[in-house]
Amino acid sequence: MKINVLTSNISFDELYFTGKTCVVIDVLRASTVIVNALANGAKEIIPVGTVDFAMKVSGDAFRSQTLLGGERNTKKVEGFNLGNSPLEYTPEIVNGKSIIHYTTNGSKSIVKAKFAENLFIACFNNLTAVVEHMNKLGKDFEIICAGNNGSLNMEDSVCAGKMIFEIQKRKKDLVLSDSSNACLIMYKTFSKSILKMLKSTEHGKLLIENGFVDDIKECAKLDATDIIPYFSSGVIKKLELNNSA
Ligand code: MLT
Repeated sequence: MKINVLTSNISFDELYFTGKTCVVIDVLRASTVIVNALANGAKEIIPVGTVDFAMKVSGDAFRSQTLLGGERNTKKVEGFNLGNSPLEYTPEIVNGKSIIHYTTNGSKSIVKAKFAENLFIACFNNLTAVVEHMNKLGKDFEIICAGNNGSLNMEDSVCAGKMIFEIQKRKKDLVLSDSSNACLIMYKTFSKSILKMLKSTEHGKLLIENGFVDDIKECAKLDATDIIPYFSSGVIKKLELNNSA
């Protein structure tokens, strides 16, 4: 089993992902929002690459059952129902709803990998559940870190490293690319306190400046749920474990 990490979402074009198994990570905060929304009863998440497309999809959608969520520069987009704070996606608000989701890096990374054969979403909140599933699947896979506007960010690479660290404990014949090894080293450097690491990152600092320190605490929670979001035919749903993916 081989694991490769793409440390941002711009290094490859869409066709690179055709037929591959992929895990998208955007710890602060898109992956954490998706995991929380599904854990709190959302029917599905529809990731989109532009605000215009989000508006178009919501215009076509059955409005009372649909919410628009996401961010631009960390803040709720004008005309959207929800921002990109995982704490907003409570059962009272999201239960039974389809959520059209636009974010600066995370939703775009998922859309970019749409031709993947299998596409899962991970963060610290559901890390062990995804690790167990990838271990059972036994396929080579790519971890796509959403990164920060085309650059590596610390939080996604450390989360990728933690995932690799955990799989390494379970699989003997693991082959790691250089980027996987680099993420593993980063994780080992920051493993003592994920919360401290998140607060020290560029995006962590920006979120704190904008009043979202509680989001960071939420994003730091390890294994808060065993939900595995799975993307297929344009929508993300909870993976049912009797499902073949
Ligand atoms: C992103 O996609 O870049 C993020 O999720 C940004 C955020 O939530 O602040």
